[in-house]
Amino acid sequence: MTDGPNIAVLGAGVVGMTVAKLLQDENRKFNITIIADSFKENTTSAVAAGIFRPGTSFCGPTAEITKKWINNSWYYWQDILKSSEAPQAGLMSFSSYIFSKERYTVTRNHLIEDLVPIYRAVDKNELKICGEGWKYGSYFSTIKIGCERYLPWVERQFLDKGGKIITSTVESFTSLPEKYDLVFNCTGLGAKLLCNDHHLVPIRGQVIKVKAPWLKTAIYGDYDTYIIPGFDGIATLGGVRQYDSYNMKICKYDSAAILERCCEMLPALKKAEIVAHKVGLRPHRVPVRVEPETVNGVKVVHCYGHGGYGVTCAPGTAMDAVRMGLDLLKTNVKTKL
Ligand SMILES: Cc1cc2nc3c(=O)[nH]c(=O)nc-3n(C[C@H](O)[C@H](O)[C@H](O)COP(=O)(O)OP(=O)(O)OC[C@H]3O[C@@H](n4cnc5c(N)ncnc54)[C@H](O)[C@@H]3O)c2cc1C
Ligand SMILES: *[C@@H]1O[C@H](CO)[C@@H](O)[C@H](O)[C@H]1NC(C)=O
Ligand SMILES: *[C@@H]1O[C@H](CO)[C@@H](O)[C@H](O)[C@H]1NC(C)=O
Ligand SMILES: *[C@@H]1O[C@H](CO)[C@@H](O)[C@H](O)[C@H]1NC(C)=O
Ligand SMILES: *[C@@H]1O[C@H](CO)[C@@H](O)[C@H](O)[C@H]1NC(C)=O
Repeated sequence: MTDGPNIAVLGAGVVGMTVAKLLQDENRKFNITIIADSFKENTTSAVAAGIFRPGTSFCGPTAEITKKWINNSWYYWQDILKSSEAPQAGLMSFSSYIFSKERYTVTRNHLIEDLVPIYRAVDKNELKICGEGWKYGSYFSTIKIGCERYLPWVERQFLDKGGKIITSTVESFTSLPEKYDLVFNCTGLGAKLLCNDHHLVPIRGQVIKVKAPWLKTAIYGDYDTYIIPGFDGIATLGGVRQYDSYNMKICKYDSAAILERCCEMLPALKKAEIVAHKVGLRPHRVPVRVEPETVNGVKVVHCYGHGGYGVTCAPGTAMDAVRMGLDLLKTNVKTKL
């Protein structure tokens, strides 16, 4: 069956699953095992609204690489979107407004303005869509990646093609269940605890999932206010961005603030049924870490620290990680003592 190298992918969020998929697409002979302690609905990835919209602060090692990651990610998602699998894979296209009462700059996004089909300033009438007082606004077309569908979709394909999955907490790099020729470190915030990476910081997020099947367009306002439509008529309302907070509990004050800000923009939401409250810790790192390293003779490629934009940018970073991994496999490594 498989006589290729043994490869472990640590992490089953959007980054790890996409790395595993690209590896398998690269060569069916690769013997790939995903090792993680949380899967599908229990990952940070599943909390995300999943809108393709990198924040302007999203950053790789150079501006050029950042642009390449975003571009490659966009076309990866477009390929799935244009296939008959799109709904099962959690892909849909939609448009978004972004409004501000205070700053013109928040309505601009140099990372996607030349990439998405439409990105334009709004006109006077559009400024009134969400009530009075809005001064600046943009309208853009983009896509949504629903990880509640994408993760199970990739997992099914991965298993069908002979991939293996192990549920386990990796305590340290040396405690992996077997010897692997190559290891991908896609542990998100887990990398902080696993490896003392002080550059990795949690940015806490909280969202409310509500039933709003009538909502077809995403809306952003000031102070992290967002309303994002999704599958099965479930919209995501947000949000907060709390630096260095590890609190995984739902905060009722955050919920109240989110609801108030969103309902102010779209009063119809007052009647929407609340389905769930969710908390996630964004794995923030500047820059996002995509690089090879040999640790005690084991070939490792790191791919973590995507912050608030990991769903958007997982594919582009995963492509680089996979290429680095294949290069690393070809090298001879002497064990360092
Ligand atoms: C409220 C909120 C809204 C967001 N909205 C968006 C959005 O609209 N668009 C967007 O692009 N991004 C968004 N994000 C960001 C996005 O969720 C993250 O960037 C992304 O999920 C990171 O993916 P990941 O695969 O690196 O991490 P995770 O999804 O956290 O996956 C990490 C994996 O590693 C495993 N793991 C970690 N440590 C260990 C260990 N020691 N042993 C075994 N397994 C381990 C975990 O079990 C898990 O499987 C949002 C985040 C939040 C919190
Ligand atoms: C595939 O990898 C697993 C885990 O390392 C190992 O147990 C198994 O023997 C490998 N299979 C082959 C055919 O090499
Ligand atoms: C998610 O966590 C819950 C509670 O621990 C558990 O019952 C469920 O099986 C988990 N889901 C997956 C896909 O592992
Ligand atoms: C963007 O990615 C596509 C598909 O991978 C590629 O054909 C194109 O050349 C890239 N464009 C830029 C500007 O990098
Ligand atoms: C993951 O990355 C961290 C940060 O460099 C490193 O210390 C740790 O050893 C890596 N873990 C694994 C399992 O590769």
